This record gives sequence, C-alpha cells and structure tokens, in this order.
Amino acid sequence: MSKKKLRSQDWYGRTGKDGIIYRSWMKNQGFPHHLFEGDKPVIGICNTWSELTPCNAHFRDLAEALKRGIWEAGGFPLEFPVMSLGECSIKPTAMLFRNLASMDVEESIRANPMDGVVLMCGCDKTTPSLVMGAASVDIPSIVLSGGPMLVGRYKGKKIGTSDIWRFAEEFKLGNMTQDDMIEAEASMSRSVGHCAPMGTASTMAAMVESLGLSLPDNATIPAADSRRKVLAHMTGMRIVEMVNEDLKMSKILTRKAFENSIMVNAALGGSTNFILHLTAIAKRIGVDVDLTDFDKFSSMIPLIANVQPSGEHWVEDLFYAGGLPAVMKEIEKHLHLGEITANGKPIGENFSKAQCYDRNLIGTFDKPIKPDSGIAVLKGNLCPNGAVIKPSAATPSLLTHTGRAVVFEDIDDYKARIDTAELDIDETCVMVMKNVGPKGYPGMPEVGNMGLPQKLLAKGIKDMVRISDGRMSGTGYGTVVLHVSPESAIGGPLAYVQNGDMIELNVPERTLNLMISEEEFEKRRALFKPLNLPYERGYVNLFLDKVNQAHEGVDFDFLQGSSGSEVKRDSH
Ligand code: FES
Ligand code: MG
Repeated sequence: MSKKKLRSQDWYGRTGKDGIIYRSWMKNQGFPHHLFEGDKPVIGICNTWSELTPCNAHFRDLAEALKRGIWEAGGFPLEFPVMSLGECSIKPTAMLFRNLASMDVEESIRANPMDGVVLMCGCDKTTPSLVMGAASVDIPSIVLSGGPMLVGRYKGKKIGTSDIWRFAEEFKLGNMTQDDMIEAEASMSRSVGHCAPMGTASTMAAMVESLGLSLPDNATIPAADSRRKVLAHMTGMRIVEMVNEDLKMSKILTRKAFENSIMVNAALGGSTNFILHLTAIAKRIGVDVDLTDFDKFSSMIPLIANVQPSGEHWVEDLFYAGGLPAVMKEIEKHLHLGEITANGKPIGENFSKAQCYDRNLIGTFDKPIKPDSGIAVLKGNLCPNGAVIKPSAATPSLLTHTGRAVVFEDIDDYKARIDTAELDIDETCVMVMKNVGPKGYPGMPEVGNMGLPQKLLAKGIKDMVRISDGRMSGTGYGTVVLHVSPESAIGGPLAYVQNGDMIELNVPERTLNLMISEEEFEKRRALFKPLNLPYERGYVNLFLDKVNQAHEGVDFDFLQGSSGSEVKRDSH
C-alpha cells in the first residue's frame, strides 16, 4: 500500500460524471471495481511489440511475465502500444522516426492514468525513443529489454549481424551466391531477440543497465532463455515498489550515472549511435552532457568485452561469461559506485559479487582485450562541432593517415560510381561522402561505413579511411569517421571538400583537417549553396525544421527538457 495518493486516482478516484467516464469503459475488459480504488498502483506497460519489428516480436509473450510480477506485487498492469521502429524494415532509416516515437511515448504516459511505467525496449531505436519520452514525463519508470538473439550458425560457423558486411563483400567478389545469401540469412536470425553482436540494440540495453534504469543482467540474458522471463517477472514486481518509493527517473539519471554509462560503453566497444541517444536522453532529463565527455570518460577505459564488432564473440556468450555486472567489475575503480539504480541499490552493490567465468570473453583492466576503446572525438577545420570515430573497430595503422580525398556528393553519387572502372582511387585515398547528415538525408542513415570499391576489395584491401556526416550501424566496423558536425547540407565544411584535396586524420591527436589554405577555404565557403530539400509537407517537413545537429543528439529543439507528469484539465 502506498503512502501518498496515487497519480492514477486523478482519473479513477473521481466521483460523479468524471468517475464514470474514466472507469466505465475500462470495466468492459472485466476489471473488478476494487482495482480502481487507489491501493493498487497502475503500471503502464509501454510495449513496442510489432511483427514489423521482428526483434521485438516476442514482446506480447514477455509482457505476460511482466504482468505476473506486477500482480504479485500488488499492482494493476495495463499494457499499451506505441510506435515501434524496426531497424531492418523501416525506410529510409528508423532514426528518422526516433523523435516521433518519443513524442508518442511521452504523450501516452502523461495523458493516461498510470503511476509507473515499464518500457519494453529491443530493436535499436525502440530504447532511446522510449527512454527519451519517459524522461520528459518523469514518473517511476523501469526498462525491460527483449534480449539478444541466439548466435546464428551458418555452414558450421557462428554468425551474427556483423557478418552482413563481410557477406556483402564476398557476394561482390563472387565468393557467395544468392542461394548462399538466402541460407545465411535464415541461419543468422534463428531465434527471437535483437541483433547478436554489440550492435546498437545491445549497446542500448547495456546503456540502460549502466544508467541504472533496469535490473541487473537486463543487457545480456538471451531473449530465448527462460531467465529473460524471470527478469520480466522481477521487473514487474520492482516497478510497483518503485512507485511506492517514488523512485523517479530523475533520481536515477544523475550526471554521474551518465559518466558511468559512457565508461561502460567504452568497456563494451559499444555502438557510435550511443553518443546520439545518450546526449538526447541527457538533454531531456536536464543533465549537461556534451561530446567532449564521451572522449574524456572513455579514453582511460580499455576494451574489456570481447564481443563483435570490436571483438570476436557475441552478447549471448557475454551473458554466460558473467554478463554486464562482470564487465563493470573490471572497471570499478573508475565508476561512481554510489549511484542509485532501479532496484533501489547503488550500482556498485549490484555488481560487487559479479564473477567472470571466461577470460576469453571478459578481459581485465590490466590485461584488456584491446588497449584502445571507447569513442574518440575529433576536432578540426572539417568538423568545428566535432566528429567521432570508434578506435576499437578501426585499423590501428590508419588512425594516423593523410590521403587524397575521393568525394561522393551524396549516396546516389556513391552508388553510381563506387564500382566503376573510371573511379580514380587507391587504398591510400580518403573516401568522403556528403549530405548524409540529419537534414541532408533526413534521419541520418547508417551509410557512413560505405563499402570499399570492388577493385580494391579484389586486391585484398579490407579497410580505408572514410568520412561522412552520417551514422554507422552499431554492427559496422572500419576506420570510419562519423557524425561530422555541422553537416554538409547546411554548410558545414565537409561541403567544401573537393576531389584531390588532402585530408589529415590524426586520432591520437584528436584532429581532422582539410589541408587547404585559409583563403581557399573562405573562397569555397562563399560559393556554398544549401542543399535543396524537397519535403514540403508532413512529418519530414517538421523534422527538417526542428532537428538539431549530431553533436546535440539529433533531437527536436522543442523536445529538450521535460513537461512533467501533471495534466490539469479533464476530457469532458
Ligand atoms: Fe533489430 Fe538489429 S535489426 S536489433
Ligand atoms: Mg542500425
């Protein structure tokens, strides 16, 4: 029984006309009257189930386990759907709709009678959209992730999403047929759950666990493992207590919690998309996190988890080796141990007894999987507001490299010319793609790890320096500079690069520069014309009008901050 009057009683505890309106139709679902009397916290289950989001397609089943836990703890669960973003289905990119989904989540939570909410997250963008939306309301909230897939098996070999990029190269070279591809795709996605590597989905699940927004082990228990349902049951029990304790998101999402999350992401070699989503979440909850924090708090953390794409194994294996708590334990001397988490305990206590069961999967701080990890933030005349690179996924010798620019004006130009004989390119060149930033290719698609030209792949070349204002899949790898800000479409200096210019990348020094004179730079700036963006109506028009740049989290300017949970007026 809670001490303070429940928020849901502003609906269900009413008398007269308002009481009838808020309760009567609910009763058509067979709920008895005592459920509305104010001693059972109403727990919303914010479900991103969709058959078009296959990574979350098991969520109706998982929600049943959640409900059992909610009932057991004395809560009243009510499940509701929100916009679900399937990374593998949505064109032109699920990221275009992250902010839209977050608006759906925010308004659904605020407008409805609920005292606490469970956010059911899985496929990449379904985590940030739910956490961002909930943060802008700030009632007690807990995340339940769907869990990673079982590792795929193809012709005797373990495979997962990171192999798509390898298969694509083999297919280009004629080493794999279309029939091989069809067999590989069925072998890869053989169980429920999200992508098997430390791609964006698992990066996001680890983000919420390291922030303290979920119960321990949320990040790595496989989706198909019965312990995922146990976790759901316990999550359901815990959210009821969180309501009774008034443990709101803003009490968990402290500045130190964000610093912890950046360090943990480095230890995991997590996705570069982490930067955009964490920045956007911080701005919703009113914590100041900027690009320099990602470099500062990840530079001292080595790669601890040996998981693809930075390492060799899979998130499923990481669970068997001890999971995220065991990874956190290895970097505990750097973490803030006292930050409160969803289970009511400080984060340090949650992993204090964690053990590593397999040193092939989890290195130690002194003997890490790789010395370089995290995210390096670059500055220079090509990226005045920053650009990022993931050193653990790059070729070490290319981290300091000066090369001749081969420029693609946009994605169509790249597709038209990349495999032509006339393309003047060798492995020392720097590939540049323009107009794939938040506005230039609305939504900032994951095309930054552009595939290498066929003729260089045939020579055995595996990596080259690539630069763009776009993003890269969390499962991608290579010496890929991303998120160049400001973007080229609005006049960022990337727009001024021409074929044949020399570009200098120096990751140890954190610089990225176009080697042209100041006069030449100014001349090109004067000639710049903004990209014509032919979106006259609808959501994309709103997106172009309101979206901020990569270093600000690609959120809408008007969504930053919170409007609280109070609604003053009634519906009738
Ligand atoms: Fe859904 Fe990778 S496509 S997590
Ligand atoms: Mg993706």
